[in-house]
This record gives sequence, C-alpha cells and structure tokens, in this order.
Amino acid sequence: MINEAELITLAIQARENAYAPYSHFQVGAALLTKKGEIYTGCNVENAAYSPCNCAERTAVFKAVSEGKREFQQIAVVGGAEGKELGFCPPCGVCRQVLREFVNEKVFQVIVAKSEKEYKKYTLEELLPQSFGPEHLSL
Ligand code: THU
Repeated sequence: MINEAELITLAIQARENAYAPYSHFQVGAALLTKKGEIYTGCNVENAAYSPCNCAERTAVFKAVSEGKREFQQIAVVGGAEGKELGFCPPCGVCRQVLREFVNEKVFQVIVAKSEKEYKKYTLEELLPQSFGPEHLSL
C-alpha cells in the first residue's frame, strides 16, 4: 500500500502537466482509491477562463469516469510557476465534488509543500456542515 510521501510525490509529478498559461499557478493532485489505485490530475485552464478545471477535480473525474467511486485520500500540491511550492488547500468547488463520493469524517486531504512538510485534514474539517447526496432524500 502506498504511503503519504509517495502519494505526494505523485501529486508533484502530476503538477508538471499543469496547463496554467493564465494564472501561472500550477497544481497537482493524486487521489487514492480504497483499493489502492491512484488517479492523478493537474489544473487545466482555458482562454475563456470559466472553463478552468482544478487539479483535484481532474483527478476525481478521471477516477469516476473509469468506474471508481470509493476514495480514501487525496494529496494536493500547488505553487506559482517557477517558485517553491506553498500550501494549496482545495477550493470550495473541489471540496464539494469530493463530498459527493466520500465519507467526510474519514476521507483525508493532504495539503503538501513537500514529502516531508504537509498538513492533513478530514474533508469534514475543510467543509463542515456540508450538503451531500443523502440530503436529497430527506
Ligand atoms: N487551482 C487548483 O487546481 N486547485 C485548487 O485547489 C486551487 C486552484 C487552480 C485553478 C487555476 O487554474 C489556478 O489554480 C489558479 O487559481
């Protein structure tokens, strides 16, 4: 089974593919399924701006589009092009997208500057009192 440092390394590698010619802010993510598979993603920007997609959502959509819906952890790294990585917590939209598929009390978000320097949160800490699929049947 992959460890946290290895998941961060994969996020750092995924960031190399970031397409961010407008913000020059490059993000990478590595999403771990409960079975141990990994789906990586980077941010993909667009000249029309609003179609920009974050690294985390790229990873989630890759996984879901391949039939994977059970996740345990995601590692996220980000920083301005050519500069050192800074802590890059997932945006609100990505938090909500993750919330769709996970138990927010259990799922972990690793926000990393490096394999050695990172913070770990549950999704619930990042998105308290959240709205999820179960609310639609209340
Ligand atoms: N971005 C991500 O990919 N993930 C985040 O969690 C925060 C922001 C991207 C979106 C955009 O391409 C760039 O970073 C600047 O906001």
